[in-house]
Amino acid sequence: MMEGYEKAAADAEERLASAADIHAVADIERDLLGRRSQFTEAKRRLGDLDPGDRAAAGRRLNAARERVEASVAAARARLTASGRADRYEAERLDLTERLPRVVPLRRGHLHPVTQARDRLEDVFVGMGYTVAEGPEVESAWYNFEALNIPEWHPARGEFDTIFVNLGQPEEVMLRSHTSPVQIRVMENREPPIYIVAPGRTFRTDTADATHLPAFNQIEGLAVDRNITLGDLAGTIDEFVRALFGREVKARLRPSYFPFTEPSAEFDISRPDGSWLELGGCGMVHPNVLRNCGIDPEEWQGFAFGFGIDRLAVMRHDIDDIREFVNNDVRFLSQF
Ligand code: PHE
Repeated sequence: MMEGYEKAAADAEERLASAADIHAVADIERDLLGRRSQFTEAKRRLGDLDPGDRAAAGRRLNAARERVEASVAAARARLTASGRADRYEAERLDLTERLPRVVPLRRGHLHPVTQARDRLEDVFVGMGYTVAEGPEVESAWYNFEALNIPEWHPARGEFDTIFVNLGQPEEVMLRSHTSPVQIRVMENREPPIYIVAPGRTFRTDTADATHLPAFNQIEGLAVDRNITLGDLAGTIDEFVRALFGREVKARLRPSYFPFTEPSAEFDISRPDGSWLELGGCGMVHPNVLRNCGIDPEEWQGFAFGFGIDRLAVMRHDIDDIREFVNNDVRFLSQF
């Protein structure tokens, strides 16, 4: 009996070593130390032995039990530790994980229209202008009235305005040009004033190769003493040269805007000898100055406004302005 158990206890370590999990360990433990085990049986039989032999047999039995218990404890420790480690490994979140670098990550860059806008701002800041901004949703006062376009004026129709369903009919709108920023600036500042105001503008145009319903303009406004049309022409010349170099020429053509008098449209020359219309300009109308509390006897001004998207088209020789809003990275990454 005793030998049988000692043999089983000696094998315990090997059996436990191949136990796959703590449940298997518990099974082996029950088999070796449980109520129906050889151990329990041997302990019960100790009482049958001679009292002289009993103590020695008891010691042998206890030594075997301790061996088994130590082996079970070791196996349990091994399996719970590695079980935990396995679970941790499976549940692990690698916060430094990256996509495999099959295609190397590339750094993006600013949209070509944003680049043109930044460049324009730089050129005008270099000429002593500051940058102003106004809201994209405007009232009829800023978008029309204060700019000398009363309600009855046919020019209102020319702007293809997108109205917002707020207030009275045709009272609130998405600004159809950046000229309302002229008014906001003149209302709030004393001359001399030299500002440019770039920003988004909106018209009911259907998108085609040269039009977008949401586009960008940059407005310029100078108000000072003794400002002349020559200053306006010189300013346009100067910025066209700064942007495109000496080969590109600018020209003014007489035109009409209610908020400037005289008014002109300005074009820039293309390599093929044709002219591209870029925007409008003129001397600020005395009514506009008056609407902003500026005395036209003392102060004069010029203003201009043109499309930034158009300018970017020209700069990069792009044949369809819609490319700017298609969001095709193959197109955009070229600039
Ligand atoms: N606001 C005019 C337009 O959008 C352009 C312009 C600006 C003309 C300033 C004259 C002076 O067509």
